[in-house]
Amino acid sequence: MIPTPDLSHLTKEDYKHVYEPAEDTFILLDALEQDADYLKSLNPRLCLEIGSGSGCVLSFLGAVLGSTSALYLGTDINIRAAQATVRTGLQNKVSTSALVTSLYEGLEQRIKHQVDVLVFNPPYVPTLEGEASVAQDGRDIAGAWAGGTDGMAITDQLLKNVGGMLSPRGVFYLVAVKQNDPEGICVRMRRTQGLDGEVILKRRAGGEFLHVLRFRRSE
Ligand SMILES: C[S@@+](CC[C@H](N)C(=O)[O-])C[C@H]1O[C@@H](n2cnc3c(N)ncnc32)[C@H](O)[C@@H]1O
Repeated sequence: MIPTPDLSHLTKEDYKHVYEPAEDTFILLDALEQDADYLKSLNPRLCLEIGSGSGCVLSFLGAVLGSTSALYLGTDINIRAAQATVRTGLQNKVSTSALVTSLYEGLEQRIKHQVDVLVFNPPYVPTLEGEASVAQDGRDIAGAWAGGTDGMAITDQLLKNVGGMLSPRGVFYLVAVKQNDPEGICVRMRRTQGLDGEVILKRRAGGEFLHVLRFRRSE
């Protein structure tokens, strides 16, 4: 069993602004651990986590893959989250980098067909549409959960170009809840991105029915 990364350097004060790992984070860690052999077999060069928050997932991915020359890159709209991602990497001896940007803005050309492992635990909670855009503009803790009408306002923006980001052997892990319509996401990704998707893990946690979806190029 791969231990959860050491987060003892993050304080209550940090978690006022940065998403504290919770059940949605942990189901994602479980999915990555479950896929450890497969992930290692990809011999990834570029691992990108969108919305890396505390950096818990990116550092865990580093532990799953062991010593590699892979680049572990996180992006987040929240500057404190980007800083936490780097600090968590240092604390856990995983060399992570982080950029403050929305999704992958500014990286389009550099990562085109280059991403071997893409991960997103998005703001998936259904809210009023306006609430999601205010949260995005605020670049603080509300941006971690406010997801618009069906919880897909932010995720949908990424889904439009996952096919263009993934390398030929690339894989994409996405956290979703029932209200996001996980099966519908899979159907849509096949039609629009040519990616085969499946639910690889699901679990109830409090009031949420969490899913981890995995997408790969069709064989
Ligand atoms: C549910 S939290 C997940 C944090 C962390 N990955 C985890 O699993 O614990 C969502 C993260 O996405 C970030 N986020 C929200 N909108 C974003 C956007 N447009 N671009 C990049 N990051 C975003 C939030 O700031 C937050 O850190």
